Amino acid sequence: MNIILLGPPGAGKGTQAHRLVAEQGMIQLSTGDLLRAARSSGSEMGARVAAVMDRGDLVTDEIVIGLIAEQLDKGAAGGFIFDGFPRTLAQADALGELLASKGEVLDAVVEMRVDDDALVERITGRFTCGDCGEGYHDTFKKPAKEGVCDNCGATGSFKRRADDNEESLRTRLLNYYRDTSPLIGYYYAKGLLRRIDGLGEIDEVAARIKTVLNL
Ligand code: AP5
Ligand code: MG
Ligand code: ZN
Repeated sequence: MNIILLGPPGAGKGTQAHRLVAEQGMIQLSTGDLLRAARSSGSEMGARVAAVMDRGDLVTDEIVIGLIAEQLDKGAAGGFIFDGFPRTLAQADALGELLASKGEVLDAVVEMRVDDDALVERITGRFTCGDCGEGYHDTFKKPAKEGVCDNCGATGSFKRRADDNEESLRTRLLNYYRDTSPLIGYYYAKGLLRRIDGLGEIDEVAARIKTVLNL
């Protein structure tokens, strides 16, 4: 099964994608994570996108479509979870074509609805394990033992994102409403849209996603 998790910054796309990977054996394709990996690898492309990302603006369609095409070539038996991609209508069209060229289809698009005040609270309290990528929150998801990752046991490797500040978040939200939210109508018209309430406990949201996907 191939699905998209669609939602504004802080909606919980990464958090829920990690759950689906662990429980359903799917592969998460997060363009945000792929771009951050390019940055830390010191590649020329990584250097080119750094300032754009820190500001909260969108990287060019060409770059992110290229990243996704590369990953799709590797294949995934359990299917893909697209997290943070597509973000523009051009990216949505490109994804449809890439999947079709491999004889694959998109099965569902889960729109995670979270109001803006909750997004700000989630983003400003977020931190991640630098070793395995597990996401945490100062209030909503603290590690069981302070400073130690629940998932991989790494110590002292927690980090915060450069774009998780109020100013960049405002830009990310604007870009979401302007460029990405038209995808809601695009996928509704294709009969693929499944809307869920993204507010509530992480477990509750996970259960809602499984319900709309018939898992
Ligand atoms: P990206 O990394 O995709 O960032 P984003 O879309 O802004 O989304 P986030 O990762 O911030 O939020 P999330 O929904 O994953 O939330 P999370 O699960 O972490 O993109 C970053 C940048 O890269 C973009 O700005 C752009 O520059 C570039 N880029 C990426 N893709 C691109 C594309 N396709 N085209 C062009 N440019 C692109 O949760 C957030 C926090 O809330 C966590 O702390 C978590 O623990 C907590 N939380 C989660 N669920 C709950 C819950 N139910 N209750 C309470 N807390 C919760
Ligand atoms: Mg994310
Ligand atoms: Zn970890």
